[in-house]
Amino acid sequence: MEIIKEIYSTSIYKITHKKKIQLHQTINQKNIITAMPTIALTIQKGGSGKTTTAINLAAALQILGKKVLLVDMDPQANLTHSLGITDEPEPSIYHMLKDEGDGGEADLKSIISAPSGIPIVPASIELAGAELELVRIYGREHLLKRMLEPLTKDYDFILIDCPPSIGMLTVNALVASDYVLLPMQAEFLHYKGLKSFMHHFKKLRKSLKPELEILGIVITKYDHRKNMHRDTYERLKKEYDDKLFDTTIRSNIDLAKAQEKGKDIFQFSNRCNGAADYMAMAEEMIQKLIFKDADMALPSSVEN
Ligand SMILES: Nc1ncnc2c1ncn2[C@@H]1O[C@H](COP(=O)(O)OP(=O)(O)OP(=O)(O)O)[C@@H](O)[C@H]1O
Ligand SMILES: [Mg+2]
Repeated sequence: MEIIKEIYSTSIYKITHKKKIQLHQTINQKNIITAMPTIALTIQKGGSGKTTTAINLAAALQILGKKVLLVDMDPQANLTHSLGITDEPEPSIYHMLKDEGDGGEADLKSIISAPSGIPIVPASIELAGAELELVRIYGREHLLKRMLEPLTKDYDFILIDCPPSIGMLTVNALVASDYVLLPMQAEFLHYKGLKSFMHHFKKLRKSLKPELEILGIVITKYDHRKNMHRDTYERLKKEYDDKLFDTTIRSNIDLAKAQEKGKDIFQFSNRCNGAADYMAMAEEMIQKLIFKDADMALPSSVEN
């Protein structure tokens, strides 16, 4: 616990980058986060920043010395393309799901590549067919979980990018995960998407995965000058309290440009707001997990 006190007695956001990296090395060496979490990024609203968050959160975690694996479960394959895999990958997660569903033992490890430096299990457009094809398969909700199990010991974090709907692909991602991370814009339709997700989340916990937890809601494309954004943030804070990340991801065109170039934001422009925000988010997420793991409340000095 001493290291935790040391880290959070002074605000982690105010210490130098070098000191921060040293503290995280200590966290890594001492295995302070014991659980190696698998986290699904989801919400039933398109364009909410799921994929952008998956990429840049993974990159920030890597900089902090964590081993991270990304899994693309979206037939749009935006994550795959944004990390520099431009050709349709074959085999992709689609072929693995099919193999596993047909009784084979799909080896996910064999399709991991890291053209941008972050390891990824790629998706292809064929994944769109999987929703229907999986319908006839017994135990179809558990396929991804079974395939990821042998890999969990190799990574500190596995982040799964989901499509903007609750179908069999998202259900597979949720069943394979310990936590859910909900990136959304501070706008009405995103709020509706969040509510809709919460409804399904309750049902899914009851029927398939009682131990699944919400890790947090993070606001993306935030503009503090907009009343609607500030009001929605306050509303979410009242409703979801510490589930809402203090960090907001500001609107920053560099995030979109980086994706176009097949890079994460730290490779593209280390000093922009997007890089600062995703690093702050990674720190806050680690902080949440450490205190969860240690089963203790956040000290008041770090609550705000
Ligand atoms: N903070 C931000 N500032 C500016 N642009 C952003 C930001 N976050 C994401 N974008 C851009 O918004 C678009 C949608 O983001 P993204 O693809 O991450 O959303 P998504 O939730 O994954 O969408 P989908 O539901 O279709 O998978 C992308 O072009 C992305 O580059
Ligand atoms: Mg996406």
